[in-house]
Amino acid sequence: MVERSCLTVVLAAGEGTRMKSALPKVMHAIAGRPMLGHVLSAAKEAGSGRLALVLGPAMEQVRAYAGQAAAGAALFEQGERLGTAHAVLAARDALREGADDVVVLYGDTPLIAADTLRKVRAALAEGADIVVLGFRAADPFGYGRLILDSAGELAAIREEREASEAEKQVDLCNSGVLAFAGAHMPALVEAIGNDNAKGEFYLTDAVEIGRARGLKLVVIECPETEVMGVNSRAELARAESLMQERLRAAALAGGVTMTDPSSVFLSFDTVLGRDVTIEPNVFFGPGVSVGEGAAIRGFSHLEGARIGQDAQIGPFARLRPGAEIGLGAKVGNFVEIKKSDIAAGAKVNHLTYIGDASIGAGANIGAGTITCNYDGYNKAKTVIGARAFIGSNSSLVAPVTIGDGAYVGSGSVITKDVSGGALAVERSQQIERAGWADRFNEIGARKKRT
Ligand code: UD1
Ligand code: MG
Repeated sequence: MVERSCLTVVLAAGEGTRMKSALPKVMHAIAGRPMLGHVLSAAKEAGSGRLALVLGPAMEQVRAYAGQAAAGAALFEQGERLGTAHAVLAARDALREGADDVVVLYGDTPLIAADTLRKVRAALAEGADIVVLGFRAADPFGYGRLILDSAGELAAIREEREASEAEKQVDLCNSGVLAFAGAHMPALVEAIGNDNAKGEFYLTDAVEIGRARGLKLVVIECPETEVMGVNSRAELARAESLMQERLRAAALAGGVTMTDPSSVFLSFDTVLGRDVTIEPNVFFGPGVSVGEGAAIRGFSHLEGARIGQDAQIGPFARLRPGAEIGLGAKVGNFVEIKKSDIAAGAKVNHLTYIGDASIGAGANIGAGTITCNYDGYNKAKTVIGARAFIGSNSSLVAPVTIGDGAYVGSGSVITKDVSGGALAVERSQQIERAGWADRFNEIGARKKRT
């Protein structure tokens, strides 16, 4: 079978006034990625080779994001918001290039699944001219209703404002996802007028026009949660929680143990190997991968980090971008690691900051060690060799290199390189005065005021 070509038009011209935000609505993130990114990725996953994005005026952040998240996407501006059909026609140039399937999505409906879009496209492949993705709404108010004729065929989509009392009883609603056989585009949408209560060009009118022209109309249903739109911060939080449920379920299905999944927050791109265990209250920002058998203990916060097989992280660890933790390495409580490699079997167990460093295999970093990587202007690197031992409460002032197997005495401020196998201690000599404390206490007790 020859694969059908697909153009997806994503509508994102809405201002999102109810978000009360300086950020365009579709740039608000769920699971660490802008809503628009979720929509674009579902479209790509469903085989849409071409993407067109309809934006409002002055949406520079969206343009910049689209340029990086979907480099090939064609960007169009809808100067005035005159309705969903008008928005689709803003992408007329893309429509004219033609595609077997044309799918219309909303940029503020981030939970749409690629599988559902595949079903929509499959209906087109089987001969449908227009496919409407519908859902049963718990509360249909405000949605366009799918009106079926006596034979159960889709006859029209009626917007709330135009619906009769009887039509308002219908709970089968339009999700907003519509798909068209490319041969009818853009002509079908160009035939849509604006003679309605809002004076807008309703994309949904394509259904009645198509029916009058004898086109084949098909309804596909999906769960309501997949097509929820986000218009407010409350809805953003709800979408986040639905997405988290989805990500957690996928992790569990993939062989991850989570004591309390509801307290683990994942990113859209979190990669968890088999037999990873995650204790309660762990946060994964974008860009984290965890190797097989590793344990992430409670209250750890990770982003942009790669964790090797069988490593142990936390409790209360913070891994920042560029943290690379090797096989079986240990990062313990109140340890922060940024842009550093911790090689296999190394241990950084307590109260330590490691930044811009590389730590060799099997090295032991004592409690309270600090890599002083920043002089107020520039960052510098600390290199610690394999099997080196850094005594507790040491400051390593970068740039500095500690050789393989070297030993740094506790409390040292190391400003010069240390040779492999050597001991470096930087602290004043300890003195001892015999009997001094006894005498001090005797005098003290006599002088004490009651
Ligand atoms: C639309 C549908 C309705 C459906 C509902 C699902 C129409 C006429 N109505 O109604 O049947 O049940 O979505 O949520 O299509 N947009 C633009 N430019 C415009 C208008 C809209 O880009 O000129 C974008 C918006 O940013 C939004 C989407 O299209 O992402 C839908 O617009 P919205 O105004 O929310 O449509 P609804 O009235 O909710
Ligand atoms: Mg809406």
